[in-house]
This record gives sequence, C-alpha cells and structure tokens, in this order.
Amino acid sequence: MKKPWGGRFKEGTAKTLEEFSQSISFDHKLWREDIETSSAHAKMLHKQGIIDAFELEQILQGLKEIAKEIEQGRFQFKEELEDVHMNIEKALIEKIGSAGAKLHTARSRNDQVATDLRLYLRKKVSKIIEQLTELEKIFISIAEKHIDTIMPGYTHLQKAQPVLLAHHLLAYAWMFERDRERFKEALKRINHCPLGACAIAGSSLPIDREFTARELGFEGVIPNSMDAVSDRDFVLDVLYCGAMVMMHLSRLAEELIVWATDEFRFIELPDRFSTGSSMMPQKKNPDPAELIRGKTGRVYGNLLSLLTTMKGLPLTYNRDMQEDKEPVFDTVETVNVSLKIVNEMLPEIKFNKDKMKEASEKGFTTATDLAEYLVKKGVPFRNAHEITGKIVLYCIEKGKNLTDLSMKEFKKFSRKIERDVYEILTPEGSIKVKISYGSSSKKSVKEQIKLLRKRLRG
Ligand code: ARG
Repeated sequence: MKKPWGGRFKEGTAKTLEEFSQSISFDHKLWREDIETSSAHAKMLHKQGIIDAFELEQILQGLKEIAKEIEQGRFQFKEELEDVHMNIEKALIEKIGSAGAKLHTARSRNDQVATDLRLYLRKKVSKIIEQLTELEKIFISIAEKHIDTIMPGYTHLQKAQPVLLAHHLLAYAWMFERDRERFKEALKRINHCPLGACAIAGSSLPIDREFTARELGFEGVIPNSMDAVSDRDFVLDVLYCGAMVMMHLSRLAEELIVWATDEFRFIELPDRFSTGSSMMPQKKNPDPAELIRGKTGRVYGNLLSLLTTMKGLPLTYNRDMQEDKEPVFDTVETVNVSLKIVNEMLPEIKFNKDKMKEASEKGFTTATDLAEYLVKKGVPFRNAHEITGKIVLYCIEKGKNLTDLSMKEFKKFSRKIERDVYEILTPEGSIKVKISYGSSSKKSVKEQIKLLRKRLRG
C-alpha cells in the first residue's frame, strides 16, 4: 500500500519496520478524539475560506460514518497505515475523494496527536477526579459511623497512642483530597490547544487557532508552535498524579491486608471482595488489596519510563514520543479500575470495634498521656518521660497494665501522681484529654469532616 507520505520514496517500507513502528495496536484508543479534532479542524478550514461548504459537509459526514463503523466494529485498522491518524484520514479519502485529501491542510500528525491526547486525558482525568470525590465521601461516611470507635494508632507498626478510627480514616481522606487537587491542577495545564502548530513552525495559510481551540472546549491556545508539538509534560503530570494516588491506595491496601489478618482481626473483608485458595479450604484472601499494592509498581514504572524517554530529546517532535501512549493509557486505566474497586469494597468492610478497643488497651498506649499528666503537674517533660518509662518497665516486669497500678505503687515513682491519674490511663480518657488542633479528638474529627465537605462542594 502506498503511504500517505510516499511521494519522496522509491521503495516500499520493510514489513519488519511496519510492525516495529506501528502504534495502531494501542493508539486506536484515540479514535473518538481524532475524529473530534478533525471535525473541528475542518470547520476552521471552511470558516477561513480554505475549503468550501460542500467539502466541509462531505468531510463531516465521512468522519461521522467512520465513527459509526469503528463503534460497530466494522472498521479495519491497518498496520501499514501506522497510527490512528493515518488510518482515519486514509479511510476518509477512500470514502469522499478529493475533499478528504484537503483535511490535512495546515495540520500535521504532530499537532494532531498532541491534541488528541489532551482531549483523551481531559476525559480520563475528569473521571478520576469524580472517583476521588466519591472515595472521600465514603471515608467521611465511615468516619461518621465510627466517631466513637477507638483503636491503637501505630508508629513503626508498634502500638503508639489510642486514636479514633474516624481520625485514622480521615487521614486517608486528606491524602485523596490532595490527589484530587493535583489532578485538577494537571487538568488546567492539559486544557490548552496545540492544534495549528502543524509540524513545528505553524503555517503560511490563514488558519484560526482560537477557533479550533474553542470548538474543542480548550481554555486557550498554546502560544509557541514548537512547544505545542514537543511538550509531553502534561502527560507526565498525569503519570505523576497517578503514581501518587496509587501510592496512597497501596498504603491503604497494605493496612487492610494487615487488619484482616488473624493476628489483628480489626476488619472483616466482604466475601464479595475476597478470594479463596484452590488447595486450602479455610482461606479467605485479600486479593483486591494485594493487586492494588502490586499494580502500584507498574504505575511508578510508567512515570519513570516516560521521564527517561523524554530526557534527551532535541526539539521538537521525535518518534520516541510515540512511547508516551502505552504508559499513560496503562496508568489512567489502572488508577481508574483501582479506584472503582476501592469505592465498591470500602463501604462493605466491617470494622471490629471490640477488637480495636481491646488492642488499644494493651501495649501502654496511654504512657504519653501519663507523661503529659506529669507535665501539667509541673514536672519538666524530659523528667516526666523518664518517670513514665520507669513505670512502664515496672509494669512489664510485674505483668501489669498501667490501669492496674495502685496509688501506692504510683507514688513510689512520683509524689505528683494523684487519684485523677486513672482518668487518663484508659484509651477513652486519652482521647478525651486531646485538645490540640488536628488531634485525634471527637471535636477535631467533626471539624475535619466539615472542612472536607466544604472542599468537596467548592
Ligand atoms: N503515531 C505518532 C505518535 O504517536 C503520531 C505522530 C507521528 N508523526 C511523525 N512525524 N511520524 O507520536
């Protein structure tokens, strides 16, 4: 088959090269956007007097038919035609003849692919933003149900201090809120139009770039044609934002996996979102969470892959840049499906309040409160820390809990300790005395929910 660029060639392309250089096997995903871009471009060519009304009509009609054929699976994408852009253009020319041959006036695949990809990412990123909004709402609603549920908070995966489960869950809501903001930022930068930059230097024809940008719903036009065709930072923004969401999801997944173990039993995962073992009949495995954790590595790889592809490229377009598509398709699809699973699974998880509470009563989780109690009685913090450390050691040696100690025993360590100490030694007491902003108190949790709700509305 003669290539659309075949004029200066005496020989056909090697089959091995055709197979090697084709992108149609993956960039066919951009067909809708390619047709949108072409339709807007044709309208502009007509408005500027470059094609006549009949030619425009033929082009728009032809593109519509092609869209229908693709949608119904009747369109034959050809590897020899390299990519989605040439496949569609060639089909149009076969359909309508010379009007079709005018479509590529003042246009190159270089500005076309950049425009298509921006349109594609605009849709995908908007969807991810919606999913993140939903996820935050889920966290808020679970937090509201667990405003009284106390669990041990951990550092180094060692029991640290009692916290409200709601506070722990809202920590995730805040992470995803920042992810949402990041994607919104990325969206702003995506939403500028490269079309009309042509191959590199613009055109000598009287095109109207503002018009096509408006037609395609872009916020504005990219002012430098060389920048417009060579920049892929908008793709990298998405890859980075995607890596960040996956990192957050992966941490959540890890906690769900740990919490679902027999050793913890903080949660019961829904049967619908668990899998069994082909050999061990008793097993109930947290595979969705593990897969999210696993897929995170791939998504990180996608970011590094394109960063590396781009680092040595001279301006402007280089074919290397075709390697942007598979990573970004993979990232947006992985983030999308991971959020979908989490959003469905999370509301069905059962939190085992009693287990959490019981766990927070062990491991001297209120020792810090005891030290702060002494500070309130005038003991310098460093001394209070030392005294409390000794009390904990005494408890370990005697096999006791802090709450088991008598007044007499306490007095041996510090004369400042009085009866009221027992109020702060239980997990409930520990939560009650938290007064600082952003702490794990009920008041703070309620404030956070208000703040998050406000951001979700805005
Ligand atoms: N398939 C190409 C890509 O994805 C489209 C642009 C090709 N341009 C070129 N001059 N070969 O990057």
